[in-house]
Amino acid sequence: MQTADSNQPAFDLRELLRFYADAGVDEALMDIPVDRFAEAAPTVARTPPAGDENPPARPRLEPTAPPPRPAPAVSVPDEAQAARARELAREAASLDELREILAGFDGCNLKFTAKQMVFADGDPQADLMLVGEAPGRDEDIEGLPFVGRSGRLLDRMLAAIGIDRKSAYIANVIPWRPPGNRTPTPLETEICRPFIERQIELARPKVLVTLGGPASKVLLNATEGVLRLRGNWKVHRTPAGVDIPAMPTLHPAYLLRNPAHKKLAWRDLLEIRAKLDALRG
Ligand code: URA
Repeated sequence: MQTADSNQPAFDLRELLRFYADAGVDEALMDIPVDRFAEAAPTVARTPPAGDENPPARPRLEPTAPPPRPAPAVSVPDEAQAARARELAREAASLDELREILAGFDGCNLKFTAKQMVFADGDPQADLMLVGEAPGRDEDIEGLPFVGRSGRLLDRMLAAIGIDRKSAYIANVIPWRPPGNRTPTPLETEICRPFIERQIELARPKVLVTLGGPASKVLLNATEGVLRLRGNWKVHRTPAGVDIPAMPTLHPAYLLRNPAHKKLAWRDLLEIRAKLDALRG
């Protein structure tokens, strides 16, 4: 659309793109546009001239485009996949094995829309493990958790208590980016849950920090919102029954949107620092 008094578009394209990005539409589905109307249009073979000895009984329909590529085998999440995930996660005897098993697991549909799996970053032997919800766009591109804007804030939060990301172990409940950063469904979470539980069990951190409501609810068996949960020590019980002290706190992405709540996160960070010091003796 053009404005009446200029040749400028009536809307600002940058605003439109920003709107799309805010709505989570930050990727084209395919690199090259495909004209589906052209694909569907059949051409009719010419009718042979009169006197042709073997005229075809009917005009033949010939496709104009090559047949579409077969669709990827997308799994529909279901209870059977969740049961399989529990079985597979138990089989992993080390974090490397767990990563391999997860990479070969096709039971979660999120795998098929993500660019790659995001397993973990940092030191698996660290005393401190932090777990977020799911990778976003930057994490999907780099294959590492918390490397985008919220990751940079997380780095600063850790630095404030004298910890750098290389001396902590960082992961997510869901290892594949949900398309458009949508919220994972309860079944997708249930399918991924055994893997993160086993990851925590194998890493054996002294202190676990759950970042944001979804990770806190899943890993601490909680039902309250994170604003109620945060700041209070909880226990994460591993599948084998080992208790790990856990601190639920606010997600850095939430803090970017609500900077006034950084003071709450700061209190939680001081608690985490004190607990680590006490456990080290
Ligand atoms: N948010 C998360 O919960 N995890 C990431 O890795 C990035 C953003």
